[in-house]
Amino acid sequence: MIFRRKKIDNEIDMNNLPQHIGVIMDGNGRWAKKRGLPRSAGHKAGAESLKKIVTEANNLGVKYITVYAFSTENWKRPQAEVDYLMNLLMDYLVNAEKTLAGENVRIRAIGSRKELSEEMRVQIKKTEELTKDRKGIVMNIALNYGGREELVHAAREISEAVKSGRLKSEDIDENTINSYLYTAGQPDVDLLIRTSGEQRLSNFMLWQVSYAEMIFVKKAWPDFKPEDLRECILAFQGRGRRFGGI
Ligand code: FPP
Repeated sequence: MIFRRKKIDNEIDMNNLPQHIGVIMDGNGRWAKKRGLPRSAGHKAGAESLKKIVTEANNLGVKYITVYAFSTENWKRPQAEVDYLMNLLMDYLVNAEKTLAGENVRIRAIGSRKELSEEMRVQIKKTEELTKDRKGIVMNIALNYGGREELVHAAREISEAVKSGRLKSEDIDENTINSYLYTAGQPDVDLLIRTSGEQRLSNFMLWQVSYAEMIFVKKAWPDFKPEDLRECILAFQGRGRRFGGI
């Protein structure tokens, strides 16, 4: 009896899945250092980890996942590391057609594109176009993304719309702001996971995480496994979400 109860308690409730998971994939550098490897090896292992996690989330039936791949602040890293990350991202986008086809993943990039190389901008468009009719999980890759930059970008677009008469300032509400974000049309993040023990938002989806349950995991990102994702979802389901009510 006790065992039976325990088993039920440990099963994910498919009717109460998070709709949108945000992931701050932290700790690649430390993971590599601990093994006497270059930081790039940590990022490579991190990209492998990501494939497995997206597949698992998709298999479970999660509809959206946003992963923090490169922040607006990451340009401050040594040029060699920036180049490595950009190449890794490029490979990911190029291979996405093959590697994630079976999973039916729709890939989108969120963030400011103008600072990216022409080659990267072209590839992003190509991958988005190629995967747009897929029916599985939507994977937003946050690339040159910053939560504040996203809000500045939205504010500019909104003011343009007001200036041109398409929008009245008195009609601006939360839905308006939502519709000018890079994640327009998507639900809020309801589960935010950050690996490697840090407990910060680091400018990630400031608007969208307003009511997210946050789970901080000690493991570094390359060690984060599909079973850890399931643990996080179970923990999410164990929390009482009240959205400001009682
Ligand atoms: C943080 O770890 C991680 C990043 C800045 C990059 C995340 C990128 C990946 C997981 C791989 C590439 C992604 C795709 C979509 C192919 P850190 O380097 O800050 O680690 P540290 O805090 O231990 O130094």
